[in-house]
Amino acid sequence: PPVFAEPHPQEKSLAALRRQADACERCDLYKYATQTVFGEGPSVARVVLVGEQPGDQEDTAGKPFVGPAGRLLDECLQKAGVDRSLCYVTNAVKHFKFERRGKRRLHAKPNAGEIQRCAWWLGGELALLRPDLIVALGATALYSLMGRSVGLTKERGHILQAANGTPVLVTIHPSYLLRIRDHDDRDSERQRFVNELKSIGQRLN
Ligand code: URA
Repeated sequence: PPVFAEPHPQEKSLAALRRQADACERCDLYKYATQTVFGEGPSVARVVLVGEQPGDQEDTAGKPFVGPAGRLLDECLQKAGVDRSLCYVTNAVKHFKFERRGKRRLHAKPNAGEIQRCAWWLGGELALLRPDLIVALGATALYSLMGRSVGLTKERGHILQAANGTPVLVTIHPSYLLRIRDHDDRDSERQRFVNELKSIGQRLN
């Protein structure tokens, strides 16, 4: 079920919710990750950006979107004229899931069960924030927000409605841009992402 249709925590503040999430054992991911990476940003934010899950650097830092995907996100937000510090930035899944390759920890995709267990926290954040716009960065965020698989290719750039009526802007995850090898494709996809992020601007103030 989508985050808004589910029961959610009744904490009175994001700070209290974060403290609860620090001790989360709702799925097994906490056993391997360094820490819970909770959302970050002003409690009065009108726009919430939702990613997939923390990566290697986020896991170590305890903050969302501080690694390579985060730097690219920052760059694209800036090009779109969006001040990240006015947005609340979080993830659908709050522990880093990875496979060990020697010393490296490679990103592993969270499964439907993990996304659903963790929707408890995302639902709590959104219930407290009550944003005017949610930006789904990629398929995992979209799945968590809508509670079903939605075709990203088909819906990209569109605004859907979450179960409680909140508009959800559908776009790609910045790490998708990092994986594109062809220069022309990368540039055009990046430009398209920036254009999609521009529709955030109207909601920020
Ligand atoms: N990718 C995400 O989805 N979230 C992060 O916080 C970092 C990378």
